[in-house]
Amino acid sequence: MDFAKIPIEQVKSYWDKRPCNIRHSTKPVGSKDYFNEIEARKYFVEPHIPAFAEFERWKGKKVLEIGCGLGTDTINFARAGATVTAVDLSTESINLAKQRAEVLGLSDKIRFYNCNSEELSKTVPIEIYDLIYSFGVLHHTPHPDVALAEIRNYAKPGTEIKIMMYYKWSWKVFWILAQEGFRFSQTEALIAKHSEAQTGCPVTYVYTKKSLTEYVEKQGFEVKDIFVDHIFPYFIPDYVQYIYRREWYFAWMPRPLFRWLEKWLGWHLCVTAIAR
Ligand SMILES: C[S@@+](CC[C@H](N)C(=O)[O-])C[C@H]1O[C@@H](n2cnc3c(N)ncnc32)[C@H](O)[C@@H]1O
Repeated sequence: MDFAKIPIEQVKSYWDKRPCNIRHSTKPVGSKDYFNEIEARKYFVEPHIPAFAEFERWKGKKVLEIGCGLGTDTINFARAGATVTAVDLSTESINLAKQRAEVLGLSDKIRFYNCNSEELSKTVPIEIYDLIYSFGVLHHTPHPDVALAEIRNYAKPGTEIKIMMYYKWSWKVFWILAQEGFRFSQTEALIAKHSEAQTGCPVTYVYTKKSLTEYVEKQGFEVKDIFVDHIFPYFIPDYVQYIYRREWYFAWMPRPLFRWLEKWLGWHLCVTAIAR
């Protein structure tokens, strides 16, 4: 599967049709309650995010977020006192994220840009940031190397970068292959098909610790920390009804064993690196 050949318009259209986490709430879209529920569900299901992002640490600092989606993390950086620049390819997502900032009274802390990270400097003025943050985004762009080379323009020595990419040796990849009858020759296409809530994501690369380390080092970032986390444990037919019942094979598992498994076979590969 050659993801590099996928046109960026196809990627944009996929995310415009169903912005990430858009169904995390049943409240009227765009209301304060809607955004609050989205945040509650996101951090309930992905509780490792606040610890990885370290929102409080960026108080008084400048944060550039690539691929903000509906802006859950964006809002939390701003709430903690950071000045944020948030970028997303999807017009639908960025419009909702903007509305969220207005509804929550944080518009003066966040600048939004609707653009492709592979051409970031065409739209986003080059300024130096303290933190560049991108959670679950760069593996969805056809040319992740081009995107990171663009992002590098916004870093000086000491700038921190925090990126989450999907992990190759994960429970989720095993689960996808099991669903699809272990058609190993089509692994890449099957991962992309099932990587998101909405099937048919056009581009989803997966990384190992080694390949993600190489990815950031190539652009002059030195890895400070890299770890794996997050297995989605819930029974999907219930989950879409907002009921949190674990799959039978996780329900019996003692929580410490489940956490151990997440640390080995989690779907989220999180790296923190510093620009040289
Ligand atoms: C899985 S969502 C993650 C959103 C957000 N970071 C979060 O954690 O909720 C992936 C996001 O990446 C964005 N995206 C994909 N390719 C992009 C690109 N080349 N430039 C900017 N954003 C991109 C999509 O529009 C989508 O909002």
